[in-house]
Amino acid sequence: MPRQSPIAFKHDRLRAGEPLRVLDLFSGCGGFSLGFDSAGYRIVGSLEKDPRASQTHAYNFFGITDPDDPHAAARDAKKVRPGELVRELGLDKDGANRAVDVILAGPPCQSYARVGRAKLREIANNPDAFLHDRRGRLYTELVRYVRALKPLVVVFENVPDVLNQAGVNVVEDICADLEAAGYVCRYTTLNAAHYGVPQMRERVFLLAYHESLGVEPSFPSPTHWIELPEGYQDARRAALGPTLRTGSTDSNARYMPTPGPSGEILPAVTAWDALRDLPVYTLSMKEAIRPGPRRFTQNLRYNQGRPTRFASLMRHWPGFEGDRTIRDHVIRRLPRDYPIFARMKPGEQYPHAHRIATELWNEKMEALGLKASDSDASSPNRERYESEKAKVVPPYDPEKFVDKWRKMAAGEPARTLTAHLGKDSYTHIHYDDDQARTISVREAARLQSFPDGFRFVGAMNAAFRQIGNAVPPLLARSLALHVAGEVGVTARDRFAPAGMALSAHSGDGASDDHVVAASTPSVEADA
Ligand SMILES: C[S@@+](CC[C@H](N)C(=O)[O-])C[C@H]1O[C@@H](n2cnc3c(N)ncnc32)[C@H](O)[C@@H]1O
Repeated sequence: MPRQSPIAFKHDRLRAGEPLRVLDLFSGCGGFSLGFDSAGYRIVGSLEKDPRASQTHAYNFFGITDPDDPHAAARDAKKVRPGELVRELGLDKDGANRAVDVILAGPPCQSYARVGRAKLREIANNPDAFLHDRRGRLYTELVRYVRALKPLVVVFENVPDVLNQAGVNVVEDICADLEAAGYVCRYTTLNAAHYGVPQMRERVFLLAYHESLGVEPSFPSPTHWIELPEGYQDARRAALGPTLRTGSTDSNARYMPTPGPSGEILPAVTAWDALRDLPVYTLSMKEAIRPGPRRFTQNLRYNQGRPTRFASLMRHWPGFEGDRTIRDHVIRRLPRDYPIFARMKPGEQYPHAHRIATELWNEKMEALGLKASDSDASSPNRERYESEKAKVVPPYDPEKFVDKWRKMAAGEPARTLTAHLGKDSYTHIHYDDDQARTISVREAARLQSFPDGFRFVGAMNAAFRQIGNAVPPLLARSLALHVAGEVGVTARDRFAPAGMALSAHSGDGASDDHVVAASTPSVEADA
């Protein structure tokens, strides 16, 4: 009897009620994976080049602590063949192309992210430049994996700029390749704040369903609502420019307008909803921070009081329940800037910070007996003037670094977190004037909707980078539930037995018996 095709085999498996098997390419620490896991999919493996991120994925999804385990091993997508990966992960019992039902892929976006403006200028002068950027071409690895492993569903995520690389829409190129391989493709932009994530993070999502499913992909409606600030709307318009000009009126267009609100909808989850129960950093805690790599050695207790519904979800996420303490509430040591943070108002950026620093310097100059004229080259106090000033005023030009800093507003979702958090975290200054600091690793994780029981391998910078790179799990979860409905699988929602609503609404804080008293232990750094 001829052997059944891999696609027919997968349809049989689904009819038998088995969970969809997911391979996460460019998995990072696993934000994308976590959303699908929560919706009842089975994460069977990942591909990731960064050793700490791949170890984080292995620990959280397979309970693996051995860095040499095949699940924890770092691999380069350009070097490893799909069949090889599946074999190494021990998934080839029925043949490599029968192992996986769903491929997730969020390739790195450095080559087309908005942060790379200099690079984009270069691209504008030479429209093909990004094609020569090796990271920009990583999507071709995705297509190679899809051709070889024949999943039923592909979900791709990236920055909105991928829609407009000097007029080139990279997602259309991916769609064309996937269609040639037998998939029906649709894409749109979604904002995480509209899916219960306390962060306004705009990303492109492409859904591709194998044509044998007979379904045209669509995208989930928002569960939460906030009107996005102008900057986000402008960025969306700029990214979509070429797509709307060339595709939207074509009946075959793969672009779908972003789903709008309909029916009952909750207000977006705010930064305050997300962070309020996390331990307060006192001045003495900040002073106890030593220079050097920051590791997660200190257990801190939650603040007293009833956690919001969102915080409760983060504490009790099935399979990732936190305990009574958190270990990764570590922050950067920035003694020069704490007084500036304290005086900044919500939403203020670097030019304001620089102005405040100048005020602080004027006050300090007086106390030190220095004068503005001491900055003159001829002044005998010049050296002292410059060295004292450097202790108060940051050196960056306020005209050039406008959005380098930003103080968060408690009453709205945070602005986009990026991998740059691994280098500095000035884009997310805590809204609390008394704490006057940048956000901690656990706070960044909360703002991405990672549950408190999700562990990050590596010290502070590595963890920040993994978090900033991730697809917010709650947004991924909305997509996962929606896809399950469209392809006709009954998702075994992990939240259902616990009666946990997808809602992360703050309005009716769920009661929580794990609330314990706040403490103020010092925070050590392992140098
Ligand atoms: C945007 S992040 C993906 C985040 C992930 N989707 C999540 O939700 O956590 C891109 C990841 O691709 C990884 N990467 C970059 N180049 C790679 C390559 N050649 N092979 C495998 N992984 C790579 C990076 O280390 C990074 O973790």
